[in-house]
Amino acid sequence: MCMWRFILFLISAQDVFGASSDADNTISVMEGDSVTLHISVSAIERDDQILWRFGPEDSRIAEIYKQKIPTYDSNEIFKDRLEMNNQSGSLTIKNIRIKHSGLYRVTIISNGGTSDKSFRVTVYAHLPIPNITRDFSQYSSSSSSSQNCSLVCSVLNASHVTLSWYAGISVLSSISVCDLSISLSLPLEVQYQDKNTYSCMLNNPISNMTTHLDIGEICQPYADSEQCCGSTEAVIRLVISAVVGVATVVILVDHFRSSSVGHKLRAEMSPSVP
Ligand SMILES: *[C@@H]1O[C@H](CO)[C@@H](O)[C@H](O)[C@H]1NC(C)=O
Ligand SMILES: *[C@@H]1O[C@H](CO)[C@@H](O)[C@H](O)[C@H]1NC(C)=O
Repeated sequence: MCMWRFILFLISAQDVFGASSDADNTISVMEGDSVTLHISVSAIERDDQILWRFGPEDSRIAEIYKQKIPTYDSNEIFKDRLEMNNQSGSLTIKNIRIKHSGLYRVTIISNGGTSDKSFRVTVYAHLPIPNITRDFSQYSSSSSSSQNCSLVCSVLNASHVTLSWYAGISVLSSISVCDLSISLSLPLEVQYQDKNTYSCMLNNPISNMTTHLDIGEICQPYADSEQCCGSTEAVIRLVISAVVGVATVVILVDHFRSSSVGHKLRAEMSPSVP
């Protein structure tokens, strides 16, 4: 299953060559899904026995015999996630987790003889959203920095994923990780005036997550931006406080004036009241 081209971490020969050929069926699912391993027994006959096994130890996990109720081997890995259909013998794994990835084998013993079937199940984690940040470590006094903006797209603790930078729909660069859960980051250098639409995509074989780059937002000229925005902000603050100050004075003056007029009016009117 693992056929990542760019960077390969600790791939055993079995992963590369064995995985896709050692099973009759390969199934990829997202963590949290329910998956059913179908077997094509039309209906379990009176004396049929169906036995499911899992993992490198080939441990027995579920069994049905003589049309009775399926039994599940008490099992720390699956707890109560297994459900075997007592008509078809198909096995359902509910709310599947990463650790349930592996090889499932079923043996069907009937009057007609014995048959085997196997399923290679790969469970993929939900992908995090890739994070694009400015890479200030690349910001040096060299001439490139005045024209260029260094960025990095990163994800934490990912496995079985590829992280790629796209310009439009073409891939600019990619980095992949197979089995290990590690943090990945991938640099990109763009020019401030660049009109391409860039995006950073994280994907595994069954899903993807994309973050679009907003150059105008992330790539403000570094040194200039401090000056520009610092002083602009100061000016705006000054103007606002001046406006607020003037307004306060105007309101106060107005208030005092109207209340003193009121006093005057009342004073003038009081004598005429009998
Ligand atoms: C600036 O970035 C462009 C790619 O956008 C690259 O081709 C060029 O070499 C960079 N310039 C410098 C001086 O690093
Ligand atoms: C990303 O996933 C969507 C579905 O979520 C799919 O339609 C699309 O083709 C995928 N894109 C790539 C490049 O794999």
